[in-house]
This record gives sequence, structure tokens and C-alpha cells, in this order.
Amino acid sequence: MSKTIVIGGGIIGLSLGWQLAKKGVSVEILERGKSGTGASFAAAGMLAPQAEMGFDDIELFYLCRKSLEMFPKFTYELYEDCGIKVELEKTGCILPGFDRDDAERLRRLYDFREKIGMPVLWVSSSEAREIEPFLSPKCTGAIWIDDDAQINNRKLLDALKIAFEKCGGKLYEDHEVENVNIKNGKVNGVKVHGIEVESDNVIVAGGAWSKQIPGLPENLLPPVRPVKGQIINLRLNDSCRVTKVIRAPDVYLLPKSDGRLIVGASCEEMGFDVNPTAGEIFKLLERGWEAVPAIYDLPIDSIDVGLRPGSRDHMPIVGDSDIEGLFFATGHYRNGILLTPITAYELSEWIISGNASSALNGFGISRFYKQTA
Ligand code: FAD
Ligand code: GLY
Repeated sequence: MSKTIVIGGGIIGLSLGWQLAKKGVSVEILERGKSGTGASFAAAGMLAPQAEMGFDDIELFYLCRKSLEMFPKFTYELYEDCGIKVELEKTGCILPGFDRDDAERLRRLYDFREKIGMPVLWVSSSEAREIEPFLSPKCTGAIWIDDDAQINNRKLLDALKIAFEKCGGKLYEDHEVENVNIKNGKVNGVKVHGIEVESDNVIVAGGAWSKQIPGLPENLLPPVRPVKGQIINLRLNDSCRVTKVIRAPDVYLLPKSDGRLIVGASCEEMGFDVNPTAGEIFKLLERGWEAVPAIYDLPIDSIDVGLRPGSRDHMPIVGDSDIEGLFFATGHYRNGILLTPITAYELSEWIISGNASSALNGFGISRFYKQTA
């Protein structure tokens, strides 16, 4: 069986590595720092295709929904391989409005969702507060989506790491890939710590840094940039026991099974800067407090900052390239946790069978660049 090197030990690299190793491929994940400390750690863990979708990303929506459907199988298989249960939490998601502008915006979102047959419900102010009693009494109405979900992404990262290694994969931390080696239109490995390591396949799963990896041909550089996201973690207590995911205007609040209430997230074009800032945290807290006044007294736990891998069209870049053996799994932007199962299942099958995945059709790097052949 051929050997595959995965560049990057985030949720995408780990899940791909696990699926490949499980199917008998010899896999090495090379991670520049510590695996699972990039965007995948900072993420909120929302699995909310129905709540997040805008008006013009319908293809992405269907991909996300397919991936959400795969989660129960994915987490069950993971449990079998590593013994850690990472439960899909069906908390549902509520989108409240607080004034006439919000109401109009929500109505448009609701009508659009209803038109394409999504299971959404329009609820009155009092019904919204029955669903989530900690919502502000100023709530004028809401969209309720009861089959959106969430997951503990940090536990998922721990589980994936263990499952990957139990299935025979090798994880090398503090191993920065210094070059992707390509010869005669074929990948033949990478350079790490000045040493050439051979492999038949290389998967670029370097998150926001994917475009920075040396050796990739100019015409195949993934157009991915870092999009900074800050979240503040509060600690839930009896004064505020939010149980539903709340997506209010310009802020979301997520109660986590570890007792955190995530208030997120900023979305900033700041290059590779990962410093938390007072202004963004202030804005998040203010908007969060307007939606759920009871957060006012909650203790602050911590602040996390991550860099989302945002592609030029905000769609993931997953699939092969015109260099034999060179694959991409990056650009997952705001949906990398949600898109983990479909990326891992479909791309691992593609690499092993040599047959392109129909589910990933249209998400390859070729949409940005002309083929060189
Ligand atoms: P990362 O987790 O960043 O991993 C990439 C890894 O590659 C890093 O560890 C890096 O060190 C390594 N690397 C880079 N270059 C090299 C190299 N040359 N050699 C070796 N290693 C290298 N998504 C959702 O689905 N739901 C959410 O609720 C959600 N919330 C979010 C909230 C925030 C605040 C943020 C920032 C993101 C959120 N996301 C969410 C998006 C999600 O986190 C990302 O899409 C996903 O984590 C991307 O995973 P990744 O493995 O590609 O990247
Ligand atoms: N999907 C949530 C975020 O990116 O902040």
C-alpha cells in the first residue's frame, strides 16, 4: 500500500489521517507545532448548516448538511477505534430578533429556508422564551431549528489523535514541512528538518497557512487567507443556564458540555495576528448581553483566538490536483468542524480508490487555476 504524508495536524489532517490509516494506508501526519492547537481548538463546535446559511451558498449548504448526517456514524466509528465517546449534542439553534430590522431580516431568512424545504419554525416572542428562557424579554420573535447540533471539538481532537495512532498512523509534532517535493509532474515527498522524506501522496491540510507551504507550484497555491476569530468563554452557573445555541445579530452563544458558555466570534482580516483585543471582546460581550442579559454576572473563563482558513470564495478546497499524488484539504473557513466527516470519508476513499468523489465535485482547486497539463 502506498505511503501518504499529511501536512497539518488540525481536525482536517487528523481525521483524514485516521480514515486512511484505518483503511490500511501507511500515513504520517507532520505538524509544525502541537497538533490540535490551531483553528480547530479555538472553534465553537457549532454544527449548524441550517442556521448559518446565507442566500447564495446553496452548494456549500448541501455539502454541510450531508456532513452533518455523517456525524453519528463518524463519532460511533471513532468510539470503536479509541474508546472515547464524543457525543453529537442535539441542542437545536434559535435565531432571535430584537427590533423591526431584525424581524425583517429573519423573515427573509425564514422564507428562504422554508422555500427550499428546511425544517425551520417561526416562533413568537413568548414561544422563543419558552424554548430558551434566558433570552432577553426584548425578543420580538425567532427562527427555531431543532435539528442543528453541536459537538465538543476539543474532545473530538483528542479522540482523533488517539484513533489515528491506534490505527497505525504516525504523528510527528514540531515537524514543519519546509518543502513539498515535486518531480516530473508527480509528488515524491516533503522536506522536514532539512531531511527529504519520500511518499507517494501528500495532502495539504495546513489550515490558514496552506498557501505558505514552500514547494507548491505557483499555479497550485491554494488561495487561502487567515480570518481571525476571537471568542470569550464564560462559565455557566445557576444564574444563567443557557441550554440552546443562540445565533443573535452579530454574535452567537453556545453552552458547552464542559460548562463553558462561548460568546463568539469576531471575523477579522488581520493577517496572522492572534492577539486578543479589548474592542472585539467588548463588542461580543455587549451583543451577547443584549441577547441574554443574565451573562452579565457570569465569571470569565478564558479567551481563545483562531485563524480560520478562508478561501477566495469561502468554499472548502478538497480534492486532487494536476500533480499526481498531490491533494488538498483546506479552506474550510467557518465550517471546518462541520465538514470534517465528509472531508475525511470522501477524500480518503478518493485517494485509495483513485475515483473522484461525486460529493466533492466542484470543490477542487481546479476551480481557481487552469490545469498545467
Ligand atoms: P487548523 O486547525 O488550523 O490546523 C492546521 C494545522 O496545520 C495547524 O496545526 C498548523 O500548525 C499546521 N501547519 C501549517 N503549516 C504547516 C507546515 N508547513 N508544516 C506542518 N504543519 C503545518 N467551524 C465549524 O464547523 N463550527 C464552528 O462552530 C466553528 N467555529 C469557529 C470559531 C472560531 C473562533 C474559529 C477561529 C473557527 C471556527 N470554525 C468553526 C472553523 C474551524 O475551526 C476551521 O474551519 C477548522 O478548524 C480548520 O481546520 P484545519 O485542520 O484546516 O486547520
Ligand atoms: N462557524 C462559526 C465561526 O466561524 O465563528
